Amino acid sequence: MGIRFDRERRLFTIETANTAYQMAADSHDVLQHLYYGRRTGSDMSYMHRRCDRGFSGNIDGAEENRSYSLDTICQEYACAGTGDYRVPALVVRNDDGSTCADLRYRGYEIREGKYAIPGMPAVYDNGGEAQTLIISLEDPVSGLAVQLFYGVFPDMDIITRAAQIRSGSRPVTLERAMSACVELPFGQWDLIHFHGRHCMERQFERTPLPHAIQTVASRRGMTSHHHNPFVILCDRHADEDHGDCLGMILVYSGDHRTEIERDQTDSVRAVMGIHDGTFSWELQPGETFFTPEVILTFSSKGLTRLSHNCHRIIRNNICRGRYKLARRPVLINNWEATYFDFNEDKIMGLARQAADLGIEMFVLDDGWFGARNNDRAGLGDWKVNLEKLPSGLVGLAEQIHALGMRFGLWIEPEMVNEDSDLYRAHPDWAFTVPGRGPVRSRHQLVLDLSREDVRDYLYGAISAILRENAIDYIKWDFNRAMEDVFSRALPAGRQGEVRHRYVLGLYRLLDRLTSEFTQVLFEGCAGGGGRFDPAMLYYSPQIWCSDDTDAIERLKIQYGTSFGYPVSAVGSHVSASPNHQTGRSTPLHTRAVVAMSGTFGYELDLNSLSEEEKEEIRGQIAVYHKYADLIRSGDYYRLTETDLDYTAWQFVAPDLSESLVNLVVTHPLANGPFIHVKLKGLDPRAVYEDEASGDRFTGAALMYGGYTFPVMTGDYPALQIHLVRVLFE
Ligand code: DGJ
Repeated sequence: MGIRFDRERRLFTIETANTAYQMAADSHDVLQHLYYGRRTGSDMSYMHRRCDRGFSGNIDGAEENRSYSLDTICQEYACAGTGDYRVPALVVRNDDGSTCADLRYRGYEIREGKYAIPGMPAVYDNGGEAQTLIISLEDPVSGLAVQLFYGVFPDMDIITRAAQIRSGSRPVTLERAMSACVELPFGQWDLIHFHGRHCMERQFERTPLPHAIQTVASRRGMTSHHHNPFVILCDRHADEDHGDCLGMILVYSGDHRTEIERDQTDSVRAVMGIHDGTFSWELQPGETFFTPEVILTFSSKGLTRLSHNCHRIIRNNICRGRYKLARRPVLINNWEATYFDFNEDKIMGLARQAADLGIEMFVLDDGWFGARNNDRAGLGDWKVNLEKLPSGLVGLAEQIHALGMRFGLWIEPEMVNEDSDLYRAHPDWAFTVPGRGPVRSRHQLVLDLSREDVRDYLYGAISAILRENAIDYIKWDFNRAMEDVFSRALPAGRQGEVRHRYVLGLYRLLDRLTSEFTQVLFEGCAGGGGRFDPAMLYYSPQIWCSDDTDAIERLKIQYGTSFGYPVSAVGSHVSASPNHQTGRSTPLHTRAVVAMSGTFGYELDLNSLSEEEKEEIRGQIAVYHKYADLIRSGDYYRLTETDLDYTAWQFVAPDLSESLVNLVVTHPLANGPFIHVKLKGLDPRAVYEDEASGDRFTGAALMYGGYTFPVMTGDYPALQIHLVRVLFE
């Protein structure tokens, strides 16, 4: 396993436990992609036959060989302007105005450990897990140099990719600089991607690839609710347990674009990276640009294996800090309990009730600072509102800690209301285009985090809050898409850099705060899950998954999220019934079953509950503590899709000693068929006992025969079955 180079054939082979990735420098020094798939132990170059294809021209030097065209050759980092008409990874504008780049192989280097990307989050090595391959390419005319980085995690079937681009002796403008280009020369592929909207993020969609270019993208200045930067290309016949699947996730939180082209010969190319529609980057001679990273994984055993690979790499090699693998406190968040309408008495009333129920942390959401009594004012003024909270944050934190709970706080540092002291003092700090009225959203504007002075102000304000108050948790929110992205700190010719500079600035700020305040648990948020991506998980091991807290809608949102992201990253709460977003009524039990497949907390007015409901919550918290480790670190299996009359999913402990099966009936039927589901991931030879009924089954019976659920009626009933391994054959 690992990285091998065959000097004679100039053949690079990367082998992981189950997969192989291969490329070779050809006689024209073009770095060809040969193979990514199940391990074969062979040189796969034989697959790549060539013939003369009309209207696919030949590069200079290959004019006598009409079958040699960059338009039909699979490449590791395809460029525009040299006869390849498919979607490119790199587009440049040279200082003479020409737009061609022509990259030729120059050499390689293999290093132990995983490369890092300056100023950007990336997958990291916990020690002895990874190797790095760096392949150098160069444009012989312009001197533009590109280094392709491959991070290899052999045991995890993960390969990461990124590119570093250095200009030659002349300035150059990058018009597109993708992180990775992936080629699938043969096969019938489906595209799976995760689209959505506010309150309905990461909806699973699967479509056969047409002869066209499919785009999955965001130009909202954020990862977006609308398209997650995660795609899967899978064999047309692949399902959860069978078939070839290739996953690509971008470690980035700004504008992104993935383009997938099925070309004239059915060959598929996917490029993924920063959205070039809102990007350009000027490099002076000798300057470098590093792209964000793409995580690649391949499974020949279906989507479940692919998801497990993603879960492991994100949980173990993206998330950081003391909470990365630790159990998170059960929290109460006051947002859906009070919205902006609270004072200290109300907050303490909620906190006292929460403590009495066994809740471990109180999170004070939006509205505690400045003149923030609605969403029209106050953002930017990070000083406690003493009219609402006369004891201040110090006093409030003290009272909450005295109840035996931890104390958490909501902030939205990247934003400003025009009605705020900050905006009045520094109107130039917000993104607006000179002479034009801005596009407002939720009455707020975005601060220009590409500027150091803005970041310094925010660092000062947030670090002061964290230093002066006993704060255990921060919810970092972001509540609008960007527009009017214009920085007064950059000249006209560099405005195309602002969005990426913003993202780099955000990472710098987050890095400073999270590395200084290591005791604080950070939770990401962007109007729910609008910035749910691996890069944000590098700074906050959990992200509020959606502003839709309806348990039945959450089934679909959490289902889609589960393809790429581990349950330990999914912020999920029990909220009121009828639900505030959909008006739907669901049983308290069902709401808890769904919220437990996440970081688990409550977000409703506990004081309005009956004594029976309060007692039920005490029971739910005990159940959660019992299963928390299994849920957080177990393997997650989707047992059904979400378009049936029920949804089922399962956790299995890493040592297969126990499992938790979850079922929610979304459409109870009169005199309907039994719900019967085949379980997954168990030890087939072991005997498992249903802890509640005492019934015993072999793992083989539960997986190959299946489990028949009892009849369940009423509105949206749910069931959890805890199976414990009792015997070996
Ligand atoms: C959006 C978040 O997703 C909500 O949970 C809440 O924090 C509001 N913002 C507060 O403005």
